[in-house]
Amino acid sequence: MCGIIGIASNKPVSINIINSLKKLEYRGYDSAGIATLKNNLINEKKCSGRVDELEKILFKSPSDGNIGIGHVRWATHGVPSILNAHPHSSENVSVVHNGIIENSDELKMELESKGLKFKSQTDTEVITLLITEALNNNEPLESVFKTLNKLKGSFALGIIFKDFSDIIIGARRGSPLAVGYSNNENYLGSDSYALKSMTNKISYLDDGELCVLTKNEVSFYDDKKNKINKKIHIVSDEENIADKGDYKNFMSKEIFEQPITAKKCVNEYIDSLKKDINIYNFPINPKDLKKIILIGCGTAYHSCLVAKYWLEELTNIDVEIDIASEFRYRNLKFNDKNLYIFISQSGETADTAAALDICKKNSVKTCAIVNVIESTIARNADWVLPIHAGPEIGVASTKAFLGQLIVLYILILKLSSIRNEINQTTYNQKIENLKKIPKFLKKTLDLETNIQILAKEFLDAKGTMFLGRGSSFPIALEGALKLKELSYLHAEGYPAGEMKHGPLALIEEGLPVIVIAPKDKYFEKTLSNMQEVIARGGKIVFITDNKKKSISENIRFGLRVPHIDNLLSPILLTIPLQLLAYHVALLKNCDIDKPRNLAKSVTVE
Ligand code: G6P
Repeated sequence: MCGIIGIASNKPVSINIINSLKKLEYRGYDSAGIATLKNNLINEKKCSGRVDELEKILFKSPSDGNIGIGHVRWATHGVPSILNAHPHSSENVSVVHNGIIENSDELKMELESKGLKFKSQTDTEVITLLITEALNNNEPLESVFKTLNKLKGSFALGIIFKDFSDIIIGARRGSPLAVGYSNNENYLGSDSYALKSMTNKISYLDDGELCVLTKNEVSFYDDKKNKINKKIHIVSDEENIADKGDYKNFMSKEIFEQPITAKKCVNEYIDSLKKDINIYNFPINPKDLKKIILIGCGTAYHSCLVAKYWLEELTNIDVEIDIASEFRYRNLKFNDKNLYIFISQSGETADTAAALDICKKNSVKTCAIVNVIESTIARNADWVLPIHAGPEIGVASTKAFLGQLIVLYILILKLSSIRNEINQTTYNQKIENLKKIPKFLKKTLDLETNIQILAKEFLDAKGTMFLGRGSSFPIALEGALKLKELSYLHAEGYPAGEMKHGPLALIEEGLPVIVIAPKDKYFEKTLSNMQEVIARGGKIVFITDNKKKSISENIRFGLRVPHIDNLLSPILLTIPLQLLAYHVALLKNCDIDKPRNLAKSVTVE
C-alpha cells in the first residue's frame, strides 16, 4: 500500500529518497513521485508505474535540494496516473499521504466554491489546498493543525513548505509513520524497514501525533499541540536483513526459509530443558477464560480458522473467529472473560488495528500475534506473541503464515496444559512433535520438482478448486488465495462436504481440483467427495500424508507430504500449495513479489 519517505539533510536527498522508495515497493503500488525543495522552489517529479521509471526521470532531469518527500501510491481515489500520483503540490506546499480522507468530497466542494481548482481526482489534494489556505495567516505547524481538525478518515502525512526550507512536518491518524535519526539527517518513513539503510534509530508516531523534522532535530507534538518526548527504538539487525540472496524473488526465498522460520519460532517458545512452553503473563488467567475470539485479514484470517480446530480439539474454551473488516462493524457483546487475539504479519492492517481499538475501548483483554513487533497492533495490544519470522517482503504471505500457525498451536497447547485439559504424556509428545516440524518442512520442500511439472497443467485451466475438510478446509482457502493472488487464475476453496450444495455445478471435464486429504478423521469422507468430482470429469491433484493410500489411476497427480502429528498436518500441507501457486505464476510470467492490484500492508479500510 502507499508508502512515504521524507528526508531533511545537509546534502542532496533525491537519491536516498529513491533508494528508500525502492524499499517500500514491497507494500504494493502503482505510481511514484518525489518533491524536493531548493531556492524556495518545490520541484515535483512523478510517474505512473515503478520507482525505476521515476529514477530514470531524475537521471535525465535531476532534482536538487537538501530536503524532500517521496511516495509510492496504491490507488484509492482516482486511477493510477501521473496526475494522481503523489506528492500533490501547490505553489507553497507539497504533500504525500497514506490513508483515505473520508470527507474529501465535502471539503472539495467547499474549496471549489471559493474558486480553488483541483488538478487530480485524489482525496489528498484537499489536504494540499487546505494547508495552503491556512498558511496565509499561520506558521506551518499551526496550518497543519488547523487542516487536520477538518479531516475525517485515516492518514499519515509528509509535508514540505516552499517558504520554510528546512522543515518536514509529519502527522499520523490511523496510518503508520516512523521517524529515523542520523547525523545531520533525519527521516520520515512509513515503516522502519524503508529507513533501514540510513539508520537503526527509530521512533513511532502514535495516533494524533505530529512531528517536525529538520536536519538537526525532531520535535513531537500530541493532538493538543503539546510538545512530547518519544522513545527511540534501536531496530535489531535481524529486522534489517532482507535480501533475496540467490533466489529469483523474495517469495521463493521466503518459502524455502520456512524450516529456519519454524526452528526459530519453536526454539523461542519451547524450553527444551524443562520440556515446557515458555508462555507466561497471560492477560487473563487461562483457567478463567470463557471464550477466545480470533481476528485477522487475508492469510492471517486463515490461520485463525486453523486455530479454531486446534482450540476445539485441545481445549474446552469456546471459540469464535472473524474477519477484521466484519468484526469492527458488528454489534458485539464484549465480555471481560474473553481473550481477543489479533493475528497480523505486518501489525499495521487498518481493519485489524481498528478491530483491536474497539476491543480496547470496551476494556477487554487483547493479544497480538504479529511478525513486526514495533507495529501499531503490537504496541496497542495487552499482550504480544511475536512469530519471529523476520521481514516478509513478498506480498503473498508464506513464512508468516507458518509462524502464525506455530505460535497459535503452541499457545493453545499451553492453555490446554494450564487448564488440565491434556495429560502430561500427550503434552510432552506434542512438544516433541513440534520440534520435528523444521525437518519435515525440509522434506516437504523436496516436492518442488514434482510441483514444477504439475504447474504446467494449470496453464490452460479456466479456474480451479481446492477442497478439504476439518483443518484442511482453511488450508484449501489458503491454497486458493495463494493461487489467485499470484497467478490471477480463478480459484475457490471449499469444505469438501459442501460441494453438493452448489460448487459441484462448476465441475466439468478437465477442471483441476486440488483435494487436501491428510490421514485424519475426515479422510474417508474426503475421498467420497473426491469421487463425486472425478465422476464429473474433475482432474484431481491429491495431497495427503497418508502412506497407505495408493495414488490411483483416477487421480491425475499425487503429492505426499511426511506424516506428522495429525493436528500439525495443516502446517506441512500448506507447503505444496505455496509451491504450486509460485510455479504457476512463474510460468505465467507474473510479478511474483508484487502481484497486480495488491498490497503487502493494507493500511486503508
Ligand atoms: C494483505 C496481504 C496479505 C495479508 C493480509 C493481512 O492483503 O497481501 O498477504 O495476509 O494483507 O495482512 P497482515 O499484515 O495483517 O497479516
